[in-house]
Amino acid sequence: MSNRLLDKRIMITGAAQGIGLAIANAFAREGASLFLIDRDEALLQEEAAKLKGEGYQVGARSADITDAKAIVAAVAEGEAEIGRINALVNNAGVNVFSEPLDTSDEEWNRCFDINLKGAWNCSKAVLPGLIDQGGGVILNIASTHAFTIIPHTFPYPLAKHALLGMTKSLGLEYAPKNVRVNALAPGYVATQKVIDYWNGFPDPEAAKAETMKLHPNGRIATPEEIAMAAVFMISDECPFMNATCLTVDGGLSVQQHPA
Ligand SMILES: NC(=O)c1ccc[n+]([C@@H]2O[C@H](COP(=O)([O-])OP(=O)(O)OC[C@H]3O[C@@H](n4cnc5c(N)ncnc54)[C@H](O)[C@@H]3O)[C@@H](O)[C@H]2O)c1
Repeated sequence: MSNRLLDKRIMITGAAQGIGLAIANAFAREGASLFLIDRDEALLQEEAAKLKGEGYQVGARSADITDAKAIVAAVAEGEAEIGRINALVNNAGVNVFSEPLDTSDEEWNRCFDINLKGAWNCSKAVLPGLIDQGGGVILNIASTHAFTIIPHTFPYPLAKHALLGMTKSLGLEYAPKNVRVNALAPGYVATQKVIDYWNGFPDPEAAKAETMKLHPNGRIATPEEIAMAAVFMISDECPFMNATCLTVDGGLSVQQHPA
């Protein structure tokens, strides 16, 4: 690789698996120091140990992003380990899919607590440090659900729409401080979350085939393909990209309907 992220000290949430883990691996190979957060302690430490074993500078702490105090404490520990954080990837997120009128208050709160407030808790914990250092980058992993709706997935798309709103708001508010805030919107990505989604149908294989058919090129993304875009967005290769969203969905969301 080519050290595109040399001198970046990056906190990544939800880094124990899926897209977050692929991002961690890609960033490490590009020369970044990493501070990884996930609520799955065992998996997180296992993956962090693999990266450290390959010689990369990696700190890892188990924390729940919905716990603002725990995140402030984790950021302090991370900075003691890898140095002052100058970039954040808000990746941790969960599917909460229901029918609007069947959505319980608990599901609504869980959806917004993790997918929106969690990203804010982490942003709030690192923003003063980014400003103090003269700038930095925040990347929110949104979704095509941030600007389109799939019926029966309520209220997940609402939280992702709001995450896009927060991206624009913070991007504008902190542009004078040289902080860039952007969103990356994947379509379907081959992670456990999508496998769980297919398994929720009576015929998971048929559901998987249906998903593939929706895509102009007949397949969904790999986590590594999302990580490649994240490298670019965190790097200094796009200094004027701010308060916007980059869609990485193989063309899925611009179709009027599949052919
Ligand atoms: N997989 C997809 O198709 C897809 C598509 C678009 C957007 N996304 C978004 O990408 C992000 C990652 O998705 P993924 O598919 O890799 O998910 P995943 O389920 O494979 O991994 C998510 C990780 O986040 C962690 N996590 C969840 N809640 C947490 C919390 N409260 N505190 C700390 N850690 C927490 C989990 O333990 C897990 O390790 C999510 O924000 C998701 O909404 C995924």
